[in-house]
Amino acid sequence: MTGPPQISASILNADFGRLADEVLRATDGGVDSIHLDVMDGHFVDNLTMGPVVVGAVRGASDLPFHSHLMIDNPLAYAGRFADAGSDLIVFHVEAGDAPSAVIDAIGRSGKRPGIALNPETPAEAVHPYLDRVDLLLVMTVHPGWGGQSFIAEVLPKMRALREEIDRRGLAVEIGVDGGVNLDTIGLARAAGGTVMVAGSALYDADGDLAATVSALRTAAERT
Ligand code: DX5
Ligand code: ZN
Repeated sequence: MTGPPQISASILNADFGRLADEVLRATDGGVDSIHLDVMDGHFVDNLTMGPVVVGAVRGASDLPFHSHLMIDNPLAYAGRFADAGSDLIVFHVEAGDAPSAVIDAIGRSGKRPGIALNPETPAEAVHPYLDRVDLLLVMTVHPGWGGQSFIAEVLPKMRALREEIDRRGLAVEIGVDGGVNLDTIGLARAAGGTVMVAGSALYDADGDLAATVSALRTAAERT
């Protein structure tokens, strides 16, 4: 694990009436990437955004866009999220399509692949794909909503995945998604996380977002 962790702004808790401004606010606040939560009402019990929304805010920032697909059929949509301006496309190992086929499709679109696993999914489920993705997204909440509490029971699995990645000498980043805030980011860092997704911690916080970003970075290093 090298260098300070990255902070990725999840815009799910942002003001959707001013989404482009909210993407710009996070960009000016010093985050490293923008995290876009895509939900289809089937894989999770919520409906959020499609490629048209990703395309609509693409012009608001030059930062990498990480599209987190919480959808049943990522194979059918990966190309459309690539065309809309995503730089990294994350799909779930629990989704209905064969992970290898989805990784191939994202690669063919010229974008970077990522794979996510839910809190209850064992580490072994993603082992076959760790050498084929740029980001492993470890869910620390049950996907579907922002503002939920961090599930600390996931930390041993995250540590085991960190050890597996280091043992194999792989360059894959470990993203931590759900309930990341000033109290939990240090735990996630100590368990091997390198990309910290923060939604409500950034957009529900009073005061300026830039101060929250630097406070999160400081808290992450206090491990
Ligand atoms: C939940 C999403 C997360 C969420 C993070 O299903 O994948 O990205 O928006 O928001 P917070 O940081 O508020 O848990
Ligand atoms: Zn997410």
